[in-house]
Amino acid sequence: MADHDIKQVVKDKYAQAALRVIEGDGACCGGTASTCDPITSNLYSQTETAALPAEAAAASLGCGNPTALAALVPGEVVLDLGSGGGIDVLLSARRVGPTGKAYGLDMTDEMLTLARENQRKAGVDNVEFLKGEIEQIPLPDSSVDVVISNCVINLSADKDRVLAETFRVLKPGGRLAVSDVVVRGEVPPEVRRSVELWIGCVAGALEERDYRAKLDTVGFEAIDVEPTRVYRVEDAREFLEKAGLDAGAIAPQVEGKFMSAFIRARKPASAARHL
Ligand SMILES: C[S@@+](CC[C@H](N)C(=O)[O-])C[C@H]1O[C@@H](n2cnc3c(N)ncnc32)[C@H](O)[C@@H]1O
Repeated sequence: MADHDIKQVVKDKYAQAALRVIEGDGACCGGTASTCDPITSNLYSQTETAALPAEAAAASLGCGNPTALAALVPGEVVLDLGSGGGIDVLLSARRVGPTGKAYGLDMTDEMLTLARENQRKAGVDNVEFLKGEIEQIPLPDSSVDVVISNCVINLSADKDRVLAETFRVLKPGGRLAVSDVVVRGEVPPEVRRSVELWIGCVAGALEERDYRAKLDTVGFEAIDVEPTRVYRVEDAREFLEKAGLDAGAIAPQVEGKFMSAFIRARKPASAARHL
């Protein structure tokens, strides 16, 4: 599929998800986000969701909880790549306080409408949702302290560009703190494709070593990839069998290899623009 087509598939999918929440259903399968699948379910504590509009929690489509794992300090500027219904932006805004700011960036109009409505309901001022693509971030060089993201980089067909743009907008010493789907080790291509589609990675997830290498090439340091949720073949059995694969037979090639991970890296304090 061409990059442009991948982007359109992703946009259509998340426009539908946003509309389902706006119409009162859950984002991912007509139920509540907390009950629909092993990827998006139970990522946030009750304390976190209790303080947010119900629609922000219902629209949660991530695969981790980056703001819980990222150290955010009052006064900092945070940018969420692919902010969806805004859950991580609203949580970040609280952490950075009134002297800080949280930006959400998303390309899907329906998600932006939902996120802005969630911001209004949450009554927070230090938040701004921007329309745009994570491959071309509409913010100046060296303007952000922390870039977060929740299960969006795996959707991009141009991950090098996303990482280069992230590096560009970070201030020297700024941090990347994202949740993303990662593959660990070799998996036969046909099997890999089916599992990725089950997880929702239309454009393919990165193998852990490739992720580290790409971050290093762009100029990041202190790179760390920490698994937060490892997926089981059993969870994907129905989907894989519909795709014509024998889940039992491929289990040894898949088990323990697909995971959500928390990826950390830092732009060197001495960094000028690297690219
Ligand atoms: C899996 S959802 C995650 C939403 C949110 N981060 C969360 O945790 O609920 C992906 C979101 O990223 C947006 N998105 C995907 N690819 C994008 C791109 N290339 N540029 C901007 N936004 C993108 C989609 O519109 C969608 O809102």
